[in-house]
Amino acid sequence: MICDNITTAENGHLLFAGQDTVDLAKQYGTPLYLMDEDRVREKCRVYTAAFRKHFGDKARPLYASKALSCKRIYEIMREENMGIDVVSSGEIYTALQAGYDLSRAYFHSNNKTDEDIRYGLDHGIGCFVADNVEEIKVIEAEAGARNIKQPVLLRLTPGIDPHTYEAIATGKVDSKFGSAIETGQAEEITAFTLKQPHVDLAGFHCHVGSQVFAEDVFERAAVIMLEFVAEMKKKYGYMARQLDLGGGYGVRYVDSDPFLDVDTKVGEVAAAIQETCARLGIEMPEIHMEPGRSIVADAGMTLYTAGTVKRIPGYKNYVSVDGGMPDHPRFALYGSPYTCLLANKMNEAADFECSVVGRCCESGDIIQEHVKLPRSVGRGDIVAVCTTGAYHYSMASNYNRLPRPPIVMLRGGKESYAAVRRESLEDLCRNDL
Ligand code: LLP
Repeated sequence: MICDNITTAENGHLLFAGQDTVDLAKQYGTPLYLMDEDRVREKCRVYTAAFRKHFGDKARPLYASKALSCKRIYEIMREENMGIDVVSSGEIYTALQAGYDLSRAYFHSNNKTDEDIRYGLDHGIGCFVADNVEEIKVIEAEAGARNIKQPVLLRLTPGIDPHTYEAIATGKVDSKFGSAIETGQAEEITAFTLKQPHVDLAGFHCHVGSQVFAEDVFERAAVIMLEFVAEMKKKYGYMARQLDLGGGYGVRYVDSDPFLDVDTKVGEVAAAIQETCARLGIEMPEIHMEPGRSIVADAGMTLYTAGTVKRIPGYKNYVSVDGGMPDHPRFALYGSPYTCLLANKMNEAADFECSVVGRCCESGDIIQEHVKLPRSVGRGDIVAVCTTGAYHYSMASNYNRLPRPPIVMLRGGKESYAAVRRESLEDLCRNDL
């Protein structure tokens, strides 16, 4: 199996986090997002331990909450002592509702509005990750009005191609994010920021991409960023206290995806950092990283009920499910691969090739192509889609006026509870006047 929280019971039912998915589908209805709480916590602990071991006590993993943002996840992050990365007033609001202490939050985005900046400051945001000079100007004015000195990281683009798909590659020079080192703009914004009396430049940030498996991408980014740190020290006498290398570690969606061991990966980055700091004669800054997908992706699974099965002789077969691109947008957007299983017939041979498709009124509404399911698949069977904990609920829509599914958390091998309730038909019209 692609992840060790997925197993099969003797009766042929798929188990997720040790619980019977067919029973869960019956109890909570479908479509249904399941989250393995124990797995999320385990990932937080693995990152925290790896950071301590390789980067020292001050280093911090920040959970990139865009991957999955809801009150419950911020409660878990609070309990696990994780920092967080937020990108909007909406994520900040949600974190606050969960009692999360915002002094441990980093506020990203390439275009924070003036309201966002005020909202962050009013709620004691720990640090802004400023994308550009315009943001620095607004932060300076608003911090000045509050008579505080606001910590800020500057987002820089190190000019690295992470070899992932285009939509999520962000560290290249022509990116919409950050200030490029290569063009001199990174230095300009650094010099400008250092002159602001109400901005405390804490250091630098970069994020090269997401779903990254390519070797040494983070090491190369770290080296470029540290060389910049050393240059700023030489030119301006400014030594960065923090270096944030962003998120991006890849996860297994299908069997052919490699397995990344977080401790090993973090250890490799740490070795490159230590070597580079020694070569450049600078102290190692406090290192941060912002994993999102790799904290929550394989803690998630979506359950659907199969409906129409269409066999078109000589062409192809379709299995339709009761959700689709509104709750599963990543195939339509990026053509992302997924593993689909027939949860109530795991002990039948899976040799019927089909496309698993959604119920929306467009042909691109596909969950996955070239899926192998048991030949007996039919109306009422439960289709499970694995590794859906990241960028699913957080990117879900109400297209075709489909209510968003609930999130049901699983823990301890037998307990389940709803963390987000299923949207009702009334919810769909809540804002209609
Ligand atoms: N930090 C920054 C500044 C980011 O922009 C991102 C993701 C992360 C951290 C977390 O990266 P992760 O560890 O999750 O790879 N919707 C796309 C993914 C967009 C990622 C955006 N930024 C998808 O579904 O593949």
